[in-house]
Amino acid sequence: MTSKEIKIAYLEYESIDQLDPADKELAEAAIKATEGSYAPYSKFNVGAAVRLDNGLIIKGSNQENAAYPSGTCAERTAMFYAAATYPDNAITGIAVVASQNGQICENPATPCGACRQVMAQYQTKGGRPMSILLVGSGRIWKFSKVDDILPLIFDSI
Ligand code: THU
Repeated sequence: MTSKEIKIAYLEYESIDQLDPADKELAEAAIKATEGSYAPYSKFNVGAAVRLDNGLIIKGSNQENAAYPSGTCAERTAMFYAAATYPDNAITGIAVVASQNGQICENPATPCGACRQVMAQYQTKGGRPMSILLVGSGRIWKFSKVDDILPLIFDSI
């Protein structure tokens, strides 16, 4: 038996002003995207913004439904729209932010497992790393690739 360990490296910033200009732009787009959130049940408004390899930024937000499973997260709204509209462009980064009562949550919003799996597949499809920027008003975390938030990715078929 061998004991093994997986380590994850990520960056923490105190505010979006510390981000490089491209990441700041993506974070601001994710914040703007929260305005499109439709979350009458959870009242948890999530915005996401993805960057394509041509520089284009696509926004998405969570969309809830009375038949709960029919709703979808902000990340998947943004990624599915981006992939459906620009199938030949890799997604090189995604930013996510949550707000409640009109205030950005202090802690970064961390994507659900389903969204991580979808990120993983679009990263594989794009053939290059997808960075993940999780934005909170108190702190921001940056991961350089999906593997860092989804170790042992399922991509075997
Ligand atoms: N949600 C997202 O949009 N992204 C996440 O990363 C976590 C959760 C949404 C789903 C649902 O509309 C609400 O937040 C509460 O779970």
